Amino acid sequence: MQKVKIAFIGSGNVAWHLAKNFSRFGHPIVGISSRNVESAKKLALEVGSQAKKIFDLDLCAADLVFLCVPDKAIYEIAQNLDVKNACVVHTSGATHLGVLDKFNNKGVFYPFNTFSKRVEISLDDTPIFVESPTHEKLLSNLAKSFSKKVHVFNSKQRLQLHIAGTLVNNFVNHILAMGENFMGKNEIDYHLLQPLIERTFSSALKQSPSKVQSGPASRNDRITIQKHRAFLKDHTDLNEIYHVLTNSILKKYGYEKLD
Ligand SMILES: NC(=O)c1ccc[n+]([C@@H]2O[C@H](COP(=O)([O-])OP(=O)(O)OC[C@H]3O[C@@H](n4cnc5c(N)ncnc54)[C@H](OP(=O)(O)O)[C@@H]3O)[C@@H](O)[C@H]2O)c1
Repeated sequence: MQKVKIAFIGSGNVAWHLAKNFSRFGHPIVGISSRNVESAKKLALEVGSQAKKIFDLDLCAADLVFLCVPDKAIYEIAQNLDVKNACVVHTSGATHLGVLDKFNNKGVFYPFNTFSKRVEISLDDTPIFVESPTHEKLLSNLAKSFSKKVHVFNSKQRLQLHIAGTLVNNFVNHILAMGENFMGKNEIDYHLLQPLIERTFSSALKQSPSKVQSGPASRNDRITIQKHRAFLKDHTDLNEIYHVLTNSILKKYGYEKLD
């Protein structure tokens, strides 16, 4: 594909991974900016670019301007940006494309993964979701330079995906952390759970998770549920989550909810 000149606003986790991948595939990074120029400098050095403060960056040379800033800052930065021809793109799953309505050319480039500057990951298998009324083909081709999984999604579909991601990644991880903490408090090695954790994930990917649900709530085993709850009565957070999830499973399998 044609080489695309790209500028970055924000030099955090996502900018770090995208800039390095774009650069690796020959797309020039024409500038990187951040509130703290020092963090932009580190990334600029990695990709042979220049670092500036956000509104000092000359965006005339860019074909694409990536806004890799926290969701809550996207609108405000967009309002203060003066971009004439370049396509301005955000990378947020939960933010509507309309937040960039002031620009003639706008888009979304959402990499569906968890990024940290400290952890190098290959983007080969990372699904990328693009949206743009004007630059859909360019953004899709750019994503295809390094990802095998590129999809066109509108803002509503992206929000739905983001909610599902929160359920299966963030919430599940929180429950794993609660399990680790509970085991630790009771002086039992957390890694004893490893075979069960591995089986949970492999089964949920091999077939529908609804078909492999197990545990006391799915078989309406009230005696075991009461024993668990009696033990957990002083663990306020754990007890609350146990109650909500047990009721959700009971309801799904057609049993009466707990009081
Ligand atoms: N992290 C992920 O796993 C992930 C995955 C997919 C999509 N996303 C999306 O990608 C976007 C960027 O996320 P990120 O994780 O890269 O964020 P991040 O690591 O927190 O980096 C944010 C960058 O924006 C700058 N910034 C922070 N607040 C700002 C403000 N109020 N005004 C101007 N600049 C500000 C920061 O500058 P300083 O360094 O100078 O503070 C930093 O360079 C978000 O829309 C997020 O939803 C994130």
